[in-house]
Amino acid sequence: MRNESTIEKSRSSYEKINYLLRPAKQVERKLIIEALHCLRRKFPIENYQYVGMGSLFYVDYYMFHKYLGIKDMISIEKDEEKIDRFKFNKPYSFIKLIPGVSTDVLPTLDWQKGMFIWLDYDYKMSMSIVDDIQIVCNYIKPGSLFIITVDAEPKRFGASDNDGFEGSPKQRLENFKKELHPYFPPELSPRDLSEKNFPRLLRRTIVNVIEERLRRRKLGYIQIFNVKYRDTSQMYTFGCVFENISGEIEDTGLFKLDFISKNNTLVEINLPIITPLEKIHFDKLIPGIAKKLKAFNIAEDKVNNYEKYYRYYPQYYESLL
Ligand SMILES: C[S@@+](CC[C@H](N)C(=O)[O-])C[C@H]1O[C@@H](n2cnc3c(N)ncnc32)[C@H](O)[C@@H]1O
Repeated sequence: MRNESTIEKSRSSYEKINYLLRPAKQVERKLIIEALHCLRRKFPIENYQYVGMGSLFYVDYYMFHKYLGIKDMISIEKDEEKIDRFKFNKPYSFIKLIPGVSTDVLPTLDWQKGMFIWLDYDYKMSMSIVDDIQIVCNYIKPGSLFIITVDAEPKRFGASDNDGFEGSPKQRLENFKKELHPYFPPELSPRDLSEKNFPRLLRRTIVNVIEERLRRRKLGYIQIFNVKYRDTSQMYTFGCVFENISGEIEDTGLFKLDFISKNNTLVEINLPIITPLEKIHFDKLIPGIAKKLKAFNIAEDKVNNYEKYYRYYPQYYESLL
């Protein structure tokens, strides 16, 4: 197991925010479901084992069970001292909660099964994450699906001890290289550590690790997700199917979905926070909301992004239990 210091020790994200209340993340979950609906035409997704990190809210578990029919589910949780709380909040008894750090738990899973794995970290790219990717690539069965989400704020590399110090781009680059040695791509410059470019660097790093591992197994991967999104922090999600040829995936119609990316084209979820009345108003203005909208003073790129993803945009109301 990696040195504890490489795993984020600050307050976990579930202690800061109710995961349901993050519109961009919720849109991302729905895009994943839509993609898996396509893949279901050729791959028996409902029989796959879902391995994720449900945290306290299990939002992904509710959704993947309800909308994809998956019942074989494992949730890994590193905060072992609070494990009773995580157990209490499991929405279904068939979810198996395994306490421990992913790097220790992943090798103990039954890798004979078809898997849908989502390692949804709430911290920056690190060597412990590299270890997890390598474990997945060592064991995963062809036809399985792998998604990984990491914090994509380059300022997290401003200081080695995560004390919030932002650092210069040059210093961030040095820290990134030190942390990810030898998996960072060649010919990096401080510009790769800008907020805009950092998701691309994360993709290249993740792809490096995957390709290096899979070469030993003569197994290929087909990238399907290359997404950056923001609720509070900028986050990056990479996803792929482990297959040598893309024919079967093409037959599912997956690549016709405009949020699927097979290459380095980044898909952005960058939504405005809007009220229920604004949502109703915006929806009536489709198509071309931004051109017709007057006096709202919401950035045009956000309005356009809303128009792209309005079908997935969540609305929240208080429910009195
Ligand atoms: C971002 S949340 C997961 C959210 C969930 N996937 C969803 O869609 O709502 C991450 C959870 O996994 C836990 N976690 C983070 N890194 C982990 C690791 N390496 N091993 C085990 N648990 C981890 C955190 O404590 C937190 O509860």
